[in-house]
Parts: sequence; C-alpha cells; structure tokens
Amino acid sequence: MSKTPIHVAVTGAAGQIGYALLPRIASGQMFGPDQPVVLRLIEIPHEKAMAALKGVAMELEDCAFPLLRDMVLTSDVNEGFRDANWALLVGAKPRGPGMERGDLIKENGPIFVGQGRAINDHASADVRVAVVGNPCNTNALIAMHAAKDVPNERFTAMTRLDQNRAEAQLAQKAGVAVSEVHNMLIWGNHSATQVPDFKNATIGGKPADEVITDHEWLKNDFFSTVQKRGAAIIQARGLSSAMSAANGLIDHVHDLVNATADGSWRSVCVPSDGSYGVTEGLISSFPVQSDGQGGYKIVQGLELGDFLSGKLKASVAELEEERETVADLLS
Ligand code: NAD
Ligand code: LMR
Repeated sequence: MSKTPIHVAVTGAAGQIGYALLPRIASGQMFGPDQPVVLRLIEIPHEKAMAALKGVAMELEDCAFPLLRDMVLTSDVNEGFRDANWALLVGAKPRGPGMERGDLIKENGPIFVGQGRAINDHASADVRVAVVGNPCNTNALIAMHAAKDVPNERFTAMTRLDQNRAEAQLAQKAGVAVSEVHNMLIWGNHSATQVPDFKNATIGGKPADEVITDHEWLKNDFFSTVQKRGAAIIQARGLSSAMSAANGLIDHVHDLVNATADGSWRSVCVPSDGSYGVTEGLISSFPVQSDGQGGYKIVQGLELGDFLSGKLKASVAELEEERETVADLLS
C-alpha cells in the first residue's frame, strides 16, 4: 500500500534554487523513492513571480513524476504552509557581487516573521523547518521566535553546502574520490566566518591532517576557499549558487529524515544548547546525528584545538551581532 503523501512547502519556488530543487523533491531524492509528496509552492504576490511559478508548475507536470500527487501555488503564506510537514524557506533576496551575506539581514529578516507565524498557525503538528534564504542562521532564529508553539529544535538552517564544498576541496588536495572524505564538519555561521573543521574529518579512514601534511594549506587556502566559495560562485556566474545549494538542501533534509548510520555526523545549523561554548539559543552549525524519528542530537566530545576554537569564537560573536541587529524582530 502506498504511503500517505507528505506536504512540502517551498518559498521562493520560482527562483533559481527552486528550479533546481523542485524536480529533485518530486522525484523522491529528498524523502525517498516510495514517499509521495504534495508541493506547496509559495511566491511573492507579484504578477511576474506568480506567472513564473505557474511555468515551473507546468514543467513539473510535464515531468510526470509518479510521486508528485498535487501542487498548490500561492502567495498566501497561510495557505502555503497549511498542513506542511516540511517548510523549506528558500525565498529571499540573494547577495550580489561585493556584498556579505549579513548585508541582507535588514531586507530579508522581516520575511521570516510572517512565515514563522504562518507556520505556527497552519502547519502540521510535526512540521520541521529548513532555512536557506540568507543570512540563513539568523533568519531561522527569527522564524523560530515567531513560531511560539513549534518546538525550537524543529528549526534548522543550512551549512550542508559548505560541508560538501569542503569535502570536495579535501578530496582534490589528497587526490582521492570525494567518497573517501567523512565527518567533514562546519561550525558556526553560514558566512565568511564559518569554521571548516579539518581536525575531525577523515580521508580514507585516517585523520585529514595526517593525510594532508601541509597544515599551512589547511589553515589558510582550504579555510578561505570554503569560507569564500559563495562569493567566488557569484563572481564567476554573476548569480549565487543554485544547483549546489539545492543539492545541499536535498542532503540536509534527507539526512535529517533518515537515521544517521555508522556514528558519523553532518553539519546542520540548530539551536545551540550551549555545547562547545556556543551561546545558548543562537542557531549555529554543529555535528548532528539524526535518530530518523524526527529527533537529532549534537555529537559531544569532539576536540577542536586552539586554532579552530578561536575561529569558532569569532563566528559565534558574529551570530551574536546578527541577533542584536534583528532584536526588534525577535520580541
Ligand atoms: P532568486 O532571486 O533566484 O529566487 C528567490 C525567489 O524568492 C524569487 O523568486 C522571489 O520572488 C522569492 N521571494 C522573495 N521573497 C519572498 C517571500 N517573502 N516569500 C516567498 N518568496 C519570496 O534567489 P535564489 O538564488 O533562489 O536564492 C534564494 C536565497 O537563498 C538567497 O537569500 C540566497 O542568498 C540564499 N542561498 C543560501 C545558501 C545557503 O547555503 N544557505 C546557498 C545559496 C543561496
Ligand atoms: C552560498 O554559500 O553560495 C550562498 O550562501 C550564497 C552566497 O551569498 O554566498
């Protein structure tokens, strides 16, 4: 017997990431090959955006995905998040060349108040939220505060793209397949202060910093390549990452829905419980293991050493500053 469809709400569905993301959800890559979905596609109430959304929906129809049971196209957030089991908050302005993600905070932050409230009032009781729109950590914080009745741990933001980028860089440097790299972890903010942890990553089962003996490369080139990869893509494409961002979100949700096997972990931005000295309540990237039942835990006991600890402190300070900037949206 086929499973009951789950309702997946996606904001910014007519945008670049939406275009790369939706066919992958509808084909089963996010929730599994036997899980039917209803897509609830949310856009701004502008004629052009809604027309573009209609076009995307027509293309989805034309893919004839067996798992795609229905689509709702709307600019009304209450309707969009109704009965949603997952809310994927992608819709927001992307940065342009020369901007930092934090520069978007005043423009994008307010979007997440209304969306948080609508999720609170209309989504399914088991709703889980993944925020992609930048600055994603602080936008997730805003939505979490606005959704008073939804447990805080249901709110996540995405550093999986950064993890994937870091894995690719380590694999290239070591001259191995990317599948040899495990437990690559990003700490902190999804920003230029993020902390790619080369100490706890492994390559071919050995610590990454034993396989790659050029520690100056790890601390300098590797670090800054990963931290600045989003800007490098914008520079090269004239547009922010979309295919890789959609792929990161597929991985992020897939690995939260399914139990984490083999004691490994994934980078997920979740509300801090104070672990690793990260200020409680901030949404920061941690090593996360999923229980596959809707719950997760932050892996404890990893050693960071002085270099990475110092970097994490700076990233947490930036998250505190962002929180201060949007204090009026958190009350
Ligand atoms: P885009 O401009 O192509 O699309 C954004 C879409 O969101 C547009 O169609 C727009 O109409 C819509 N939108 C704006 N405000 C909305 C609202 N209030 N409700 C519903 N829809 C709304 O941008 P994109 O390339 O798809 O990027 C979207 C966001 O994702 C940006 O903020 C970008 O910086 C961010 N991003 C994050 C990561 C990450 O790793 N966390 C990676 C890439 C991009
Ligand atoms: C990315 O990491 O590619 C996105 O956050 C877009 C950006 O502004 O860098």
